[in-house]
Amino acid sequence: MLPEVGAYEADRPGYLAAGTARFGDVWQVVPKIHFLAGLDATRQVLRRTGQEFEVPRGTFALPRQARVEDAAVEAMRIRTLRHSRVGRNAATLARGAAGLADSWPTGAEADALPLLSAASARMATGYHFGPDADEVMFAEEELVELRTGLGHRYVHLPGWVPSPARLRVRRSQHRLAARIRSVVARRAGDVARRAGDDVRRAGDDARRAGAAPFGTPGGDVLDELIRACSASGVNPAVYLPFRLVTAMVAAREMVGPAAGWVLAALAEHPQWAERIAAEAVSVLPDPDDVDAGTLSRLVLADAFVRETLRLYPPNWLLPRTVALPVEIGGYDLLPGERVLVSPYLLHRDLRYFPDAASFDPGRWLDPGDGRRSGQAGGQAGGQGGGQGGGAYLPFGAGPRICPGASLASAELVLVTAFMARRHLIRRHALTPTTWGAYRPSGLRVLCRPRDLGRVAGC
Ligand code: HEM
Repeated sequence: MLPEVGAYEADRPGYLAAGTARFGDVWQVVPKIHFLAGLDATRQVLRRTGQEFEVPRGTFALPRQARVEDAAVEAMRIRTLRHSRVGRNAATLARGAAGLADSWPTGAEADALPLLSAASARMATGYHFGPDADEVMFAEEELVELRTGLGHRYVHLPGWVPSPARLRVRRSQHRLAARIRSVVARRAGDVARRAGDDVRRAGDDARRAGAAPFGTPGGDVLDELIRACSASGVNPAVYLPFRLVTAMVAAREMVGPAAGWVLAALAEHPQWAERIAAEAVSVLPDPDDVDAGTLSRLVLADAFVRETLRLYPPNWLLPRTVALPVEIGGYDLLPGERVLVSPYLLHRDLRYFPDAASFDPGRWLDPGDGRRSGQAGGQAGGQGGGQGGGAYLPFGAGPRICPGASLASAELVLVTAFMARRHLIRRHALTPTTWGAYRPSGLRVLCRPRDLGRVAGC
């Protein structure tokens, strides 16, 4: 058993791919843990989560009082991350992406992941908290650092074991929630004060017309969530903090590595980088003027992001616990056993993606006119209508599908466009790791300013 564990830890995706080649689409990795390859089994597990399968409880469980969900509030929380809402706040995200490109160190190698993770956290925090973003950023950084440290440990204890490192994470999670709680309490007071007065009415009118800008009365994501809580009789200071903690952490832990893979891919595919830069020159206005229309015109950047998420999906392995007896691939599984499915391996499976190992953003474009083919991964909530016959799952599927898919996609497309327009990127080193997210650890890139005169003429 020990040599097997060593082989698994040395190269987890490689180990699972080799096992699948040897044993078929469903096989036992160790007693009570099965790996499921292939679209049918993967779909069954993801779609039937909440029935025969459950998401295992990890260190990041919500406290009991925050788990009490009001359907209307939960629906509102998910609505605030929808594609149309993200489009309305595109300028906030564009300012973050432009700031990253403008401040990126040039002329010397830079350690890319910390810069990218901080920028994606700023974008997501700005998106949710508007003018109050700075107040939660610092606490969120500490939490992610502790969680990353936990992921790097070689020995992984079951989720319920209260190890000292886990307790540190838990305490940090509570500190961030407390920070968010104080912002929520202050905002809830503001929202209540505004109720009925002219500012509120103006905001409501503007919002109804779909025109309320981000960060103004009536247009803020946090205000919307607080109002939804109040309308449903749910205390926002109890319900929202831990919900927002998970969103903040997901944003930093997933978008940062994804942006790292994007930079590495831009460095490896300079012709694509050049085409994306040319598109960005003609499409991108001043960041303050970026809107949903801008996003839809960044066709090449969007295809590039989708292809990056196909070959390098940060959430590469999704675990489930069996909740009810179930038969899958000829195995009878019992409650308490584990199954694993992997978007990473599905995306590299020749049955679903022709020439699956090649990095080819063109597969996401219509061959005729170079327009977007099918539906965007993020825009379609991760189902990716254009390719793979439903096997494109960087954001998962079923009831636990990633609610942040549109936000993440918009952030990544804007980072791709602004970085490619401004910089020629050379990758120098990276080590793929799979602790926590699938990430380009130690990614170092060398950027120098791109000659925009040449790009415009190309
Ligand atoms: C490239 C970036 C991202 C990727 C690849 C990603 C991927 C995923 C995947 C695959 C899942 C499903 C996990 C499962 O089925 O076990 C998930 C869940 C989730 N994601 Fe994301 N995500 C990203 C960004 C974000 C962002 C920006 C947010 C929030 C603003 C977010 C919030 C969440 C939440 C709250 C869940 C849990 C949903 C639930 O359990 O019902 N994610 N993500």
